[in-house]
Amino acid sequence: MHIIVHNEQELDAVAQTILAQYANQRVFGFFGEMGAGKTTLIKALCRALGVVSVPTSPTFALVNEYLRHSGDPVYHFDFYRIEEMDEARQIGFEEYLYSGHYCFIEWTEKVESLLQESYTRVEMSIDAMHCRIINLI
Ligand SMILES: Nc1ncnc2c1ncn2[C@@H]1O[C@H](COP(=O)(O)OP(=O)(O)OP(=O)(O)O)[C@@H](O)[C@H]1O
Ligand SMILES: [Mg+2]
Repeated sequence: MHIIVHNEQELDAVAQTILAQYANQRVFGFFGEMGAGKTTLIKALCRALGVVSVPTSPTFALVNEYLRHSGDPVYHFDFYRIEEMDEARQIGFEEYLYSGHYCFIEWTEKVESLLQESYTRVEMSIDAMHCRIINLI
């Protein structure tokens, strides 16, 4: 799926579209340079999932846990700062992946070999007109 996003206001509709199109997928790995819009899209996805609270995990800086209306958690990882894949293993990254709950991962390239199971690649870039290009694979 290929989406062009002209401004942030469009992201709520984009998030709905993505979740509907990939209704069976729970793990989404985001790729894209700094500022591409990964966090902003993940926040829209969380809104679309009915996230009611936005507490950051006090225990592990690499993962934020949000709660949906339903009580189900949504996990948001940001591996920008990790130097070794072991740091992801140590927070139990693989257990989160197999939890059956939504997992949104920033800087997926840092942990890609831990993602053996199928996951949805979300590749983001910025075009000359500052639009965000999103490719889902
Ligand atoms: N679809 C969009 N249209 C216009 N501006 C956007 C869009 N998405 C994000 N932005 C803006 O781009 C900036 C960077 O966005 P964001 O923090 O989501 O990037 P990121 O990919 O998560 O970066 P990092 O790799 O540093 O975590 C923010 O100021 C945000 O408001
Ligand atoms: Mg970010």
